[in-house]
Amino acid sequence: MFGLRAVTSIVALCFAVAVKAMPSSDAIIGSGLAVTQFPPVPDFSNASWIWTSTKGLTGVPPGTAAFRLTVPGPTILGPSANISVAISVDNAYSLYLNGKLIGNGVQGINANIWTINNVPTNTPWVFAIMATNYALSLNNTAVNPAGIIASFVASSLSTQNAKFWSTGPAPNPQWKGTDLAYDNFYTTTLDDSAWPAAVVMVGYGGAPWGTLPPAVPASLCV
Ligand SMILES: *[C@@H]1O[C@H](CO)[C@@H](O)[C@H](O)[C@H]1NC(C)=O
Ligand SMILES: *[C@@H]1O[C@H](CO)[C@@H](O)[C@H](O)[C@H]1NC(C)=O
Ligand SMILES: *[C@@H]1O[C@H](CO)[C@@H](O)[C@H](O)[C@H]1NC(C)=O
Repeated sequence: MFGLRAVTSIVALCFAVAVKAMPSSDAIIGSGLAVTQFPPVPDFSNASWIWTSTKGLTGVPPGTAAFRLTVPGPTILGPSANISVAISVDNAYSLYLNGKLIGNGVQGINANIWTINNVPTNTPWVFAIMATNYALSLNNTAVNPAGIIASFVASSLSTQNAKFWSTGPAPNPQWKGTDLAYDNFYTTTLDDSAWPAAVVMVGYGGAPWGTLPPAVPASLCV
Protein backbone atom coordinates (compact mmCIF):
# COMPACT_ATOMS: atom_id res chain seq x y z
CA MET A 1 0.00 0.00 0.00
CA PHE A 2 1.23 3.53 0.52
CA GLY A 3 4.20 4.43 2.59
CA LEU A 4 7.92 4.42 2.45
CA ARG A 5 9.50 3.83 -0.90
CA ALA A 6 11.69 1.16 0.55
CA VAL A 7 12.17 -0.64 -2.72
CA THR A 8 13.99 1.43 -5.28
CA SER A 9 14.39 -0.99 -8.14
CA ILE A 10 12.38 1.15 -10.56
CA VAL A 11 14.79 2.82 -12.94
CA ALA A 12 13.70 6.41 -13.32
CA LEU A 13 14.05 6.96 -17.06
CA CYS A 14 10.77 8.59 -17.85
CA PHE A 15 8.19 9.45 -15.30
CA ALA A 16 4.57 10.15 -15.66
CA VAL A 17 3.92 13.86 -15.70
CA ALA A 18 0.77 15.74 -14.92
CA VAL A 19 0.96 18.59 -17.39
CA LYS A 20 0.95 17.32 -20.96
CA ALA A 21 -2.36 17.48 -22.78
CA MET A 22 -3.79 14.51 -24.63
CA PRO A 23 -3.21 14.55 -28.38
CA SER A 24 -6.22 16.23 -29.91
CA SER A 25 -6.91 13.94 -32.84
CA ASP A 26 -10.42 13.97 -31.52
CA ALA A 27 -12.70 13.44 -34.43
CA ILE A 28 -16.10 13.67 -32.79
CA ILE A 29 -18.47 11.18 -34.29
CA GLY A 30 -22.09 10.68 -33.49
CA SER A 31 -24.64 13.30 -32.57
CA GLY A 32 -27.60 13.92 -30.32
CA LEU A 33 -27.46 12.38 -26.87
CA ALA A 34 -24.56 10.03 -27.49
CA VAL A 35 -21.41 11.87 -28.55
CA THR A 36 -18.47 9.52 -28.88
CA GLN A 37 -14.87 10.58 -29.04
CA PHE A 38 -12.51 8.80 -31.43
CA PRO A 39 -10.08 7.47 -30.54
CA PRO A 40 -11.75 6.41 -27.30
CA VAL A 41 -9.96 7.07 -24.01
CA PRO A 42 -9.43 4.05 -21.74
CA ASP A 43 -11.03 4.08 -18.32
CA PHE A 44 -11.25 1.61 -15.47
CA SER A 45 -15.01 1.09 -15.44
CA ASN A 46 -14.69 -2.52 -16.60
CA ALA A 47 -11.33 -3.26 -14.99
CA SER A 48 -10.28 -5.19 -11.89
CA TRP A 49 -7.19 -5.17 -9.68
CA ILE A 50 -4.88 -8.13 -10.23
CA TRP A 51 -1.70 -9.53 -8.64
CA THR A 52 0.24 -12.77 -8.57
CA SER A 53 -1.53 -15.93 -7.49
CA THR A 54 0.92 -16.67 -4.69
CA LYS A 55 0.56 -13.47 -2.76
CA GLY A 56 -2.18 -11.30 -4.13
CA LEU A 57 -5.05 -12.40 -1.97
CA THR A 58 -3.38 -12.41 1.42
CA GLY A 59 -1.26 -9.25 1.33
CA VAL A 60 2.07 -8.74 -0.35
CA PRO A 61 5.51 -8.27 1.22
CA PRO A 62 7.53 -5.30 -0.06
CA GLY A 63 9.19 -6.29 -3.32
CA THR A 64 8.63 -6.74 -7.02
CA ALA A 65 6.53 -8.97 -9.22
CA ALA A 66 6.52 -9.34 -13.01
CA PHE A 67 3.45 -9.60 -15.20
CA ARG A 68 2.97 -10.41 -18.88
CA LEU A 69 0.18 -10.42 -21.42
CA THR A 70 0.48 -11.49 -25.03
CA VAL A 71 -2.41 -10.69 -27.35
CA PRO A 72 -2.66 -11.02 -31.11
CA GLY A 73 -2.44 -7.74 -33.02
CA PRO A 74 -6.10 -7.14 -33.94
CA THR A 75 -6.16 -7.22 -37.74
CA ILE A 76 -9.65 -5.65 -37.67
CA LEU A 77 -7.81 -2.40 -36.97
CA GLY A 78 -5.80 -2.52 -40.20
CA PRO A 79 -2.00 -2.73 -40.51
CA SER A 80 -1.29 -0.66 -37.40
CA ALA A 81 -3.01 0.68 -34.32
CA ASN A 82 -2.58 3.31 -31.66
CA ILE A 83 -2.66 1.79 -28.19
CA SER A 84 -3.70 3.77 -25.13
CA VAL A 85 -3.14 2.25 -21.71
CA ALA A 86 -4.61 3.62 -18.50
CA ILE A 87 -2.70 2.10 -15.60
CA SER A 88 -2.39 2.39 -11.86
CA VAL A 89 -0.23 0.23 -9.62
CA ASP A 90 0.03 0.04 -5.86
CA ASN A 91 2.80 1.17 -5.53
CA ALA A 92 4.99 1.59 -8.62
CA TYR A 93 5.45 0.16 -12.11
CA SER A 94 7.43 -0.01 -15.31
CA LEU A 95 5.31 -0.71 -18.39
CA TYR A 96 6.75 -2.35 -21.50
CA LEU A 97 5.37 -3.13 -24.95
CA ASN A 98 7.16 -5.50 -27.31
CA GLY A 99 10.40 -5.31 -25.38
CA LYS A 100 10.49 -1.51 -25.08
CA LEU A 101 10.00 0.56 -21.95
CA ILE A 102 6.90 2.71 -22.33
CA GLY A 103 7.01 4.45 -18.98
CA ASN A 104 7.25 4.38 -15.22
CA GLY A 105 4.87 5.45 -12.53
CA VAL A 106 6.05 5.92 -8.97
CA GLN A 107 3.35 8.17 -7.67
CA GLY A 108 1.28 5.68 -5.75
CA ILE A 109 -2.07 4.78 -7.20
CA ASN A 110 -2.67 7.89 -9.33
CA ALA A 111 -3.41 6.59 -12.82
CA ASN A 112 -1.55 7.47 -16.00
CA ILE A 113 -2.50 7.10 -19.65
CA TRP A 114 0.26 6.11 -22.06
CA THR A 115 -0.34 6.19 -25.82
CA ILE A 116 1.86 4.28 -28.24
CA ASN A 117 1.28 5.20 -31.87
CA ASN A 118 1.32 3.06 -35.01
CA VAL A 119 2.04 -0.38 -33.55
CA PRO A 120 1.99 -3.03 -36.31
CA THR A 121 -0.84 -5.55 -35.97
CA ASN A 122 0.85 -8.36 -37.89
CA THR A 123 2.81 -9.54 -34.84
CA PRO A 124 1.60 -10.34 -31.31
CA TRP A 125 1.64 -7.57 -28.73
CA VAL A 126 3.61 -8.42 -25.60
CA PHE A 127 2.79 -6.20 -22.64
CA ALA A 128 4.94 -6.54 -19.52
CA ILE A 129 4.81 -4.80 -16.17
CA MET A 130 7.27 -4.83 -13.32
CA ALA A 131 5.29 -3.86 -10.25
CA THR A 132 6.72 -2.92 -6.88
CA ASN A 133 4.98 -2.99 -3.54
CA TYR A 134 6.48 -0.58 -1.00
CA ALA A 135 6.96 -1.15 2.70
CA LEU A 136 4.38 0.48 4.94
CA SER A 137 7.12 2.37 6.77
CA LEU A 138 10.82 2.20 7.50
CA ASN A 139 10.27 -0.25 10.33
CA ASN A 140 7.21 -2.00 9.02
CA THR A 141 7.80 -4.47 6.24
CA ALA A 142 4.60 -6.39 6.90
CA VAL A 143 2.44 -7.58 4.04
CA ASN A 144 0.13 -4.91 2.68
CA PRO A 145 -2.16 -4.43 -0.32
CA ALA A 146 -0.62 -4.50 -3.79
CA GLY A 147 -2.38 -4.46 -7.13
CA ILE A 148 -2.34 -3.55 -10.80
CA ILE A 149 -5.29 -2.14 -12.70
CA ALA A 150 -5.10 -1.31 -16.39
CA SER A 151 -7.42 -0.67 -19.32
CA PHE A 152 -6.43 -0.73 -22.97
CA VAL A 153 -7.86 0.80 -26.13
CA ALA A 154 -6.33 -0.13 -29.48
CA SER A 155 -7.70 1.99 -32.29
CA SER A 156 -7.14 2.91 -35.89
CA LEU A 157 -8.06 6.24 -37.41
CA SER A 158 -8.05 4.75 -40.90
CA THR A 159 -10.51 1.94 -40.15
CA GLN A 160 -12.30 3.81 -37.33
CA ASN A 161 -12.29 0.57 -35.35
CA ALA A 162 -11.32 0.14 -31.73
CA LYS A 163 -10.75 -2.80 -29.43
CA PHE A 164 -11.05 -2.63 -25.63
CA TRP A 165 -9.79 -4.84 -22.84
CA SER A 166 -8.77 -4.53 -19.21
CA THR A 167 -7.14 -6.40 -16.40
CA GLY A 168 -9.98 -8.53 -15.11
CA PRO A 169 -11.96 -11.71 -15.59
CA ALA A 170 -12.86 -13.22 -18.96
CA PRO A 171 -13.65 -12.12 -21.59
CA ASN A 172 -10.62 -9.96 -20.80
CA PRO A 173 -7.36 -11.70 -21.74
CA GLN A 174 -5.53 -13.56 -18.98
CA TRP A 175 -2.40 -11.93 -17.55
CA LYS A 176 0.41 -14.03 -16.10
CA GLY A 177 2.34 -13.02 -13.00
CA THR A 178 5.31 -14.24 -11.01
CA ASP A 179 7.14 -13.28 -7.84
CA LEU A 180 10.35 -14.75 -9.23
CA ALA A 181 12.97 -12.48 -10.71
CA TYR A 182 13.39 -12.64 -14.46
CA ASP A 183 15.91 -10.19 -15.90
CA ASN A 184 14.32 -10.51 -19.32
CA PHE A 185 10.71 -10.54 -18.15
CA TYR A 186 9.76 -7.85 -20.70
CA THR A 187 11.24 -9.39 -23.84
CA THR A 188 9.15 -10.74 -26.67
CA THR A 189 11.14 -13.96 -26.77
CA LEU A 190 10.74 -14.99 -23.12
CA ASP A 191 8.87 -18.26 -22.77
CA ASP A 192 6.27 -17.53 -20.08
CA SER A 193 4.27 -20.70 -20.62
CA ALA A 194 5.13 -21.90 -17.10
CA TRP A 195 4.18 -18.62 -15.42
CA PRO A 196 1.06 -18.82 -13.27
CA ALA A 197 -2.07 -16.90 -14.20
CA ALA A 198 -2.49 -13.61 -12.37
CA VAL A 199 -5.49 -13.50 -10.06
CA VAL A 200 -8.35 -11.05 -10.08
CA MET A 201 -8.78 -9.52 -6.63
CA VAL A 202 -11.50 -6.88 -6.76
CA GLY A 203 -13.29 -4.81 -9.38
CA TYR A 204 -12.51 -1.12 -9.86
CA GLY A 205 -13.94 0.94 -7.02
CA GLY A 206 -13.66 -1.89 -4.50
CA ALA A 207 -11.62 -1.78 -1.29
CA PRO A 208 -8.94 -0.95 -0.42
CA TRP A 209 -8.33 1.34 -3.40
CA GLY A 210 -11.78 2.75 -4.11
CA THR A 211 -12.34 5.21 -6.92
CA LEU A 212 -9.18 6.79 -8.32
CA PRO A 213 -8.62 10.36 -9.50
CA PRO A 214 -8.93 10.72 -13.29
CA ALA A 215 -6.03 9.18 -15.20
CA VAL A 216 -3.43 11.72 -16.30
CA PRO A 217 -1.77 11.55 -19.75
CA ALA A 218 1.93 10.81 -19.48
CA SER A 219 5.03 11.27 -21.63
CA LEU A 220 6.39 8.31 -23.50
CA CYS A 221 9.88 6.97 -23.10
CA VAL A 222 10.02 5.61 -26.64
C1 LIG B 1 -17.77 -2.40 -20.41
O1 LIG B 1 -18.57 -3.57 -20.41
C2 LIG B 1 -19.85 -3.39 -20.95
C3 LIG B 1 -20.64 -4.66 -20.72
O2 LIG B 1 -19.93 -5.77 -21.20
C4 LIG B 1 -19.72 -2.99 -22.41
O3 LIG B 1 -20.99 -2.76 -22.97
C5 LIG B 1 -18.87 -1.74 -22.53
O4 LIG B 1 -18.63 -1.45 -23.88
C6 LIG B 1 -17.54 -1.92 -21.84
N1 LIG B 1 -16.81 -0.67 -21.84
C7 LIG B 1 -15.53 -0.59 -22.15
C8 LIG B 1 -14.91 0.76 -22.09
O5 LIG B 1 -14.88 -1.58 -22.47
C1 LIG C 1 13.00 2.32 13.43
O1 LIG C 1 13.79 1.47 14.23
C2 LIG C 1 15.05 2.05 14.62
C3 LIG C 1 15.87 1.00 15.33
O2 LIG C 1 15.12 0.35 16.31
C4 LIG C 1 14.77 3.28 15.48
O3 LIG C 1 16.00 3.89 15.87
C5 LIG C 1 13.94 4.27 14.70
O4 LIG C 1 13.58 5.35 15.52
C6 LIG C 1 12.67 3.61 14.15
N1 LIG C 1 12.01 4.53 13.26
C7 LIG C 1 10.68 4.71 13.25
C8 LIG C 1 10.18 5.67 12.24
O5 LIG C 1 9.95 4.14 14.03
C1 LIG D 1 -2.13 7.46 -34.31
O1 LIG D 1 -2.23 8.79 -33.88
C2 LIG D 1 -1.55 9.70 -34.71
C3 LIG D 1 -1.60 11.06 -34.05
O2 LIG D 1 -2.92 11.42 -33.81
C4 LIG D 1 -2.17 9.67 -36.10
O3 LIG D 1 -1.46 10.53 -36.96
C5 LIG D 1 -2.12 8.26 -36.64
O4 LIG D 1 -2.83 8.20 -37.87
C6 LIG D 1 -2.75 7.30 -35.68
N1 LIG D 1 -2.55 5.92 -36.16
C7 LIG D 1 -3.56 5.06 -36.21
C8 LIG D 1 -3.20 3.68 -36.65
O5 LIG D 1 -4.71 5.34 -35.92
